[in-house]
Amino acid sequence: MNLNVVILAAGRGKRMNSLVPKVLHEVSGRPMLQYAVDAVKTLKPQKTVVIIGNGAEAVKKRMKAEDHLSFVIQKKLLGTGDALAIARKELKKGSVLVLNGDCPLITTGTLKMLLNKHKSDQNMLSFLSFVDNSISGYGRIVRNENGSVVRIVEDKHATPIEKKRFNELNGGVYIMETEVLGYLNKIRKNSFSGEYYLTDIVDIVAKAGKKLEAYNGPPEEIRGVNTREELFKISDMLRKRIIAKWMGKGVTFIDPDTSFVHPLVSIGKDTIIYPNTYLEGSSKIGNNCIVYPGTRINNSILGVGVIIKDNTVIEESRIGGGTVIGPFAHLRPHSTIGRNVKIGNFVETKKSSIGDGTKASHLTYLGDAVVGRNVNIGAGTITCNYDGENKFNTIIESDVFIGSDSQLVAPVKIGKGAYVAAGATITKNVPAGSLAISRTKQQNLKGWAERKRKVQKSRSAIVRK
Ligand code: UD1
Ligand code: CA
Repeated sequence: MNLNVVILAAGRGKRMNSLVPKVLHEVSGRPMLQYAVDAVKTLKPQKTVVIIGNGAEAVKKRMKAEDHLSFVIQKKLLGTGDALAIARKELKKGSVLVLNGDCPLITTGTLKMLLNKHKSDQNMLSFLSFVDNSISGYGRIVRNENGSVVRIVEDKHATPIEKKRFNELNGGVYIMETEVLGYLNKIRKNSFSGEYYLTDIVDIVAKAGKKLEAYNGPPEEIRGVNTREELFKISDMLRKRIIAKWMGKGVTFIDPDTSFVHPLVSIGKDTIIYPNTYLEGSSKIGNNCIVYPGTRINNSILGVGVIIKDNTVIEESRIGGGTVIGPFAHLRPHSTIGRNVKIGNFVETKKSSIGDGTKASHLTYLGDAVVGRNVNIGAGTITCNYDGENKFNTIIESDVFIGSDSQLVAPVKIGKGAYVAAGATITKNVPAGSLAISRTKQQNLKGWAERKRKVQKSRSAIVRK
């Protein structure tokens, strides 16, 4: 079958009350429009046209990775009927699947179901309907005494009797033969709203005596996003769907109501996810990991058995198996942490690689550093990587011991197995196997404290007099 797809995404989304185009509002970290694009991609259409208008440039820019899309600009937002009409010249002969860009939960499976019905019933026009008495604002499908579809009436224009009688709602997903596009110019402007309603095509096709039908689909997939409240509801439904999937695959969630897992994330078996956790982007979490509360992991890869302790942020980083991170750690982008490493409380890393078995347990900054294996980084160690203008690298070779409260002023290299004494300010390279010490010699002034107390005592006696 020659399949064309048209995604309607030009609307201003007035009810969102936003400066951001509606279809760019995010659901689980991805723009709403992305979901519609992904759902149709697997159907391998010969052409996918996206109608844009409000915020057209922003929408195009955000979707630029999807280079198979053709964008058509609807200059004046004259309604869904007008939006499809302007796509017409882009379409090839065959079938046209039309869907709204504000319907992120629709699945390929449901679209296939509609396509199959359309084919087997040899319709000219088929569309999805659903029943949900808890919501309003959708088109209502009007059927005659024989049960045949005759037209769609928008909720806001429906009479109280129509509202009572017709509770089958329009899902806004249509499949039509290109012949139907010829009827688009028969749609009249709605006198109340001044818009051309695509839904009026139903009445026109029915009156022309062509075969058409509405098929019931799952309401939880068909519901659209028109308001911020719906944005939350739809996001929450998707969130639950994703978490249920990972539970099915052997992941434990201590409180699934407070964990957020983006759609492209993967999680290994027997991993345990604590409450208040965010697994974002395309993160990959290995088997047998533990992610403790208050953690956000963005676009990062965790090996097997990694433990992320409470209140840790991990961004665009890789962590090897058996490593323990946190609590209160911050792995900034391009941190590559080896196996069995310990990155402890209040440790920050950035653009650094840390070798296997190395420990930085407390209060440390490692930026632009290459750290070897089995290094001990003492509490309060800082790589001074920035001179106010440029960034410089620090190299710490394997088996080095850095004493607490040391500053390593980059560019600098600490050779294999060297020791840096506590409190050092290292400005020169340290050769392998050496001890670097940089402090003024300590003096102990004998009896000093006793003398000080005596002076204090005599002073306060004078004040009292
Ligand atoms: C539409 C249907 C309604 C259906 C519902 C399902 C019409 C008239 N009504 O209502 O029957 O129940 O979808 O979700 O079609 N758009 C454009 N150009 C425009 C206007 C809209 O591209 O000039 C796009 C929007 O960006 C949106 C989609 O079309 O993605 C639907 O528009 P929207 O205003 O949300 O229609 P609804 O009122 O939800
Ligand atoms: Ca809508």
